[in-house]
Amino acid sequence: MRVLLAASEVYPFSKTGGLADMTAGLTKALARLGHEAVVVSPFYRCARKSSQLPELEPWGPPLRIPLDGYTVEGRALRGRLAARITICFIEQPGFFDRPGLYDEIGAGRRAPYPDNAERFIFFSKAVARLAREGPERMDVVHTHDWQTGLVPLLVRHETLRPGWIGAPRTVHTIHNLAYQGLEAAWKYALTNLPPYYFHPDGAEFYGKLSLLKAGIAFADAVTTVSPGYAREILNPEFGMGLEGALRARGSVLRGILNGVDTEMWKTRGNPHLPFGYDARRLEGKARVKRALQAELGLREADVPLFGTVSRLELQKGIDLALEVLPWLTGRGAQYALLGSGDPELAARARELAGKFPGRFAFVEGYNEPLAHRIEAGADFYLMPSRFEPCGLNQMYSLRYGTPPVVRAVGGLNDAVVDAAEDPKRANGFKFGPSEAEALRGALERALGLWRDPEALRQYRIRGMRADFSWRRAAREYAALYRELLGR
Ligand code: ADP
Ligand code: GLC
Repeated sequence: MRVLLAASEVYPFSKTGGLADMTAGLTKALARLGHEAVVVSPFYRCARKSSQLPELEPWGPPLRIPLDGYTVEGRALRGRLAARITICFIEQPGFFDRPGLYDEIGAGRRAPYPDNAERFIFFSKAVARLAREGPERMDVVHTHDWQTGLVPLLVRHETLRPGWIGAPRTVHTIHNLAYQGLEAAWKYALTNLPPYYFHPDGAEFYGKLSLLKAGIAFADAVTTVSPGYAREILNPEFGMGLEGALRARGSVLRGILNGVDTEMWKTRGNPHLPFGYDARRLEGKARVKRALQAELGLREADVPLFGTVSRLELQKGIDLALEVLPWLTGRGAQYALLGSGDPELAARARELAGKFPGRFAFVEGYNEPLAHRIEAGADFYLMPSRFEPCGLNQMYSLRYGTPPVVRAVGGLNDAVVDAAEDPKRANGFKFGPSEAEALRGALERALGLWRDPEALRQYRIRGMRADFSWRRAAREYAALYRELLGR
């Protein structure tokens, strides 16, 4: 099959979170299964500057895209990434050659670009244009999150125009319902679509334009990134107001757990780790921990070290982690936190780092090499998310032999096994309510495991041997594509 995969982030060219890892990982795995993948993404400044940019050539004729009453010009540029993988960038410097992907970043504050609707409606239209008029016929168009939510609707509408033989099927994947692409109603005009799609059963959400809802309503199939999240979002607690729209698509909605790029996230031969190790020889892990303590200015003592790498957002429950921090260090443990995002959370973390020197290290920023060292060097990985569509870090930490402590939600619940569920398969710790008390309970149990080195070793080994390969996930997506194509 030939799949056009459209997303606003693709590793290594652009990334703010797991979406980028997912689109890159899925593409590679689909290609390995023998499918042809074309990934389309905006040509951001960071992509232009990427050292891994392949040679690019224009693809198809110049793009002249209408946005309401005016026309915006751009180009599709394509290059080969690997066998059966093409990357295609949509170039439109006015929209995409900017410092950020979605947000203006100023001193201590962030604000979405005021023309995000224009930017991503333009991008979505370019994708739909390529799907129909591009040099290659596509079997499936697979879109992701609100930024490309309009594509399934545009494709659907295009199929009503005569002459499109063998139009592709569409799949829309929801990575996070907290981001819906909600825009003022008047921006619907930018789609140049007839008014009848702007309706509560279509792209309208309480009088506003919802780009995500367009994807949910009009894609042939809708997926989310874990089976657990696919169930949770049918209810108001996790549905973020879209539970009704999701229920309406219940028969074509399913959850497929993301995978891990095992060529990048590996404990042997990893350029970011000072020492290698594996499930049979774990000594190297203890040495990575020592090096990490030294690197972060933590006391080089044989005490349990917890680690977190995260966007600093309410979703991630970092506030809970900081709330229990005084208690945790009081129990003799250390904590290493790497993250960026919400300025208030960052300020609170900085303040606590000042209060607990040698026991709590906060590194503000985005730092991939350090992310690897924290996942590997920590004894336990802390991820107290309020909700988590999939979550990749708990899977990275399992692979690195670092048992995760997680809230039992979404993909965290799917990937981690607690002893309360199955003592023979246990690889981490879960807690229920999003409260400090519940989190302390799970941390207490982790500290108990720390005092039993042989049991801890078993946890580490079980995590390292779990199968979170992209191959499994890609097979599930390919099966879905085939179903839609009636093959
Ligand atoms: P989300 O996409 O909601 O942020 P995921 O767990 O799916 O959560 O993915 C997060 C990805 O971003 C992981 O690859 C993680 O390592 C990475 N990441 C997040 N924050 C940082 C940071 N400050 N430095 C390095 N990597 C980070
Ligand atoms: C989103 C979710 C995260 C998921 C990622 C990749 O950013 O917040 O849970 O892992 O997308 O699918």
